[in-house]
Amino acid sequence: MQALVICGSRNRDGQTAQAAAALAQGLADQGVGAQVVFLPELQVERCRQCDADGWGLCRTQGRCTIADDFESLRQRLRRADRAVFATPVYFADLSESMRAFLDRLRRVCRSEEDRTGMADKPVVGIAVAGGGGGGAPQAVLRLEQILSRCGFDVVDMVPVRRQNLTLKTGVLRLTGAWLAHCAPPE
Ligand SMILES: Cc1cc2nc3c(=O)[nH]c(=O)nc-3n(C[C@H](O)[C@H](O)[C@H](O)COP(=O)(O)O)c2cc1C
Repeated sequence: MQALVICGSRNRDGQTAQAAAALAQGLADQGVGAQVVFLPELQVERCRQCDADGWGLCRTQGRCTIADDFESLRQRLRRADRAVFATPVYFADLSESMRAFLDRLRRVCRSEEDRTGMADKPVVGIAVAGGGGGGAPQAVLRLEQILSRCGFDVVDMVPVRRQNLTLKTGVLRLTGAWLAHCAPPE
């Protein structure tokens, strides 16, 4: 079993990375290896809203016309048995890199066929408010809506604020261990 952890922060040693690493450690405790991807290090453009009606090949062919790292990451996600989406909280919302990736992913996940490998995959979302500490509840709500729209089985969302990062690190490790074994829906 393999997991993919997608992190929307640039900082490999930052608070979002620490939270994601705690969850990955919980997976590892159960023998599940996790690869961590830092989105700002990849080339993932924002959606171009190609046609006049706002759609593009995403609607008719379930793929994106932009040739960047989006498609390869989508395929890695498909192959993973579990996935984690960890975003820093920016303006009580997702980071721009997480937004860019998920904006495009939900477009290419519209039809049942295009959700192959995504649908019902157990995922956990994390949002880390590392400044004043506000906005994590709003960010996880938004993240959950988008991940559900992509067809994932969103099994948990963990809001974190700078002031409780240490506490939540323990919770996230337990959540990772639990994620390793939680069953997809019947
Ligand atoms: C553009 C921007 C907006 C931010 N908005 C918030 C916010 O709404 N609430 C908050 O607590 N922190 C906010 N922060 C601080 C980030 O949440 C904090 O830098 C981040 O959690 C740190 O994560 P990292 O260490 O992984 O980079 C903001 C930071 C930036 C750059």
